[in-house]
Amino acid sequence: MAGTPPSALDAWLDSRARVRRRRGLVRAATPPDSARPLLDLASNDYLGLSADPRLIDAAVGALRRHGAGARASRVVCGTTAAHADLEEQLCTLTGQPAALVFSSGYAANLGVLTALGGPGTLLVLDAHVHASLIDAARLSRSPVQAVPHNDIGAVRAALAGRAQPRAVVVVESIYSVLGDAADLPALAAVCAEHDALLLVDEAHGIGVAGHGRGAVYAAGLSGSPHVALTATLSKALGSQGGAVLGSAGLREHLVNTARTFIFDTGLAPASAAAAAQACRIVLAEPALAGRVLANAGVLAAGCGVLPAAGAVQSVPVHSAGTALELAAALHDAGVLVGCFRPPSVPDGVSRLRLTARADLTTADVRRAAALVADAIGVAAP
Ligand SMILES: Cc1ncc(COP(=O)(O)O)c(C=O)c1O
Repeated sequence: MAGTPPSALDAWLDSRARVRRRRGLVRAATPPDSARPLLDLASNDYLGLSADPRLIDAAVGALRRHGAGARASRVVCGTTAAHADLEEQLCTLTGQPAALVFSSGYAANLGVLTALGGPGTLLVLDAHVHASLIDAARLSRSPVQAVPHNDIGAVRAALAGRAQPRAVVVVESIYSVLGDAADLPALAAVCAEHDALLLVDEAHGIGVAGHGRGAVYAAGLSGSPHVALTATLSKALGSQGGAVLGSAGLREHLVNTARTFIFDTGLAPASAAAAAQACRIVLAEPALAGRVLANAGVLAAGCGVLPAAGAVQSVPVHSAGTALELAAALHDAGVLVGCFRPPSVPDGVSRLRLTARADLTTADVRRAAALVADAIGVAAP
């Protein structure tokens, strides 16, 4: 009503919005202009599977068989044949003994760390792990020790000095913002030495590393009693959802204790069926992973940055404002790039985040890289 002073909450919302505008940190969630398609270097659809007719057919089949939603928690009546098939396909793809599917990768990370955590479990977190793992650690009520990024000595020291009987070391196989890799064999050896579990978030590894079977598989660590992993189905697998993979005992524990599994409606069967189809494709067509890595290399060379470990190439820029301006200029030139600013950057450095895809032609990737290089002021090759 006119003349009514804003509530304390509204005044606070306004002040927060003003701060975001001043710092160049405003985000928006709006659909793209369909009249003007852009060359997409921002999505995580690394293998271009989200629009693959085989995934769409699998999803449509599941919609007709099971309906539009899972209707209940997986532990009530929300588990369908599509979920069981997906868990089997994920095990086949990654070489892990058991899998449990959640409604998102975020939920999988919250579920596994809260189920394993508590006062008797030390969580050792790499400083660059994803927000979902940081939130999970906070929720778990565990003692938490953050260690410098990719510092294996610091992980060893944290494990050696612990007072808790159990410990979980939490890393990503390929980091989501900087695109660099963890040294999984060395980390697994340290964990084995100190009776700890290495939990690897393979959100950006599955479909890309190890000919698509993930970095844990590529490191020969599948089935190791000291290694478990989490995955998202929403990146290279082109669908939606998440999973935890590891021993049958871990799966059983999660079914009975993971709150984001028990108190959440099961993943939509259509998403489960699409992801299962994606697993079959990734396994049958290892060349897809080769193509995404080759395109990532072209992108890195064209933009004058060192090639990262997977699909994500990271281009640091001076400030959040510069990142926004560059992303807007590239948008005008027809290329969609990720614009990552605090708090989404673990090192506080704003950057353009470019993702390669297997379904882009080399000519398209070269053209996009030249536009990015031009925008950031690097001579194109
Ligand atoms: C490393 C990592 N883990 C987990 C997630 C969350 O996955 P989802 O989008 O399926 O919730 C993401 C997504 O951005 C991620 O990058």
